[in-house]
Amino acid sequence: MTARALFPAAAVLFGALAVSVHPAPAASPAPTGAATFTRCAACHTATGKGVPGAYPPLGSDFRKMAAKPAGRRYLVLAVVKGLNGPLTVEGKPYRGVMPAQTGLDDAAVAGVLNHIGTAIAASGPAFKAFTVAEVAAVKAGGAGMTSADVARLHAQAGGG
Ligand code: HEC
Repeated sequence: MTARALFPAAAVLFGALAVSVHPAPAASPAPTGAATFTRCAACHTATGKGVPGAYPPLGSDFRKMAAKPAGRRYLVLAVVKGLNGPLTVEGKPYRGVMPAQTGLDDAAVAGVLNHIGTAIAASGPAFKAFTVAEVAAVKAGGAGMTSADVARLHAQAGGG
């Protein structure tokens, strides 16, 4: 094969690489977990310590729940559906209402839970990341649930 014959193939390959290093911007890029967490911080505070009696901490109980299948389901549904019912978190009672966090796609829900598990909840068991597929499956399974139904899952979720 001559150099001349090789050149078109090389040009095609180079073109493909050029495309892969300059991807077109996605139509609506998923926000980072940290960016999404700013809306949670309005109530749970920027450090996730919360306000005793009003807004529960996102701390060791979060990581305990994220270590169990029932807890992972509860955490996803708490964000997607909200919560309305009595809860005990890190030994303190809460009887508040958390509004469903609307406008988050599955990647944003996974992203904010992963941000909490890695950057906000500093203690507790090792954290295993949520995947987009896991969020999608939990949402599909809990489609008909209310925020009160989700709060009732807390007792079996493995937190405090
Ligand atoms: C308007 C205030 C508010 C916002 C915004 C909010 N929360 Fe909450 N959150 C609450 C309240 C109040 C509770 C307790 C609900 C209850 O007592 O039933 C709660 C409970 C929780 C719990 C359950 C904790 C446990 O240990 O059982 C999780 C998890 C949680 N919130 C995550 C989030 C995340 C993630 C976001 C942001 C995407 C968020 N919250 C945004 C008010 C809020």
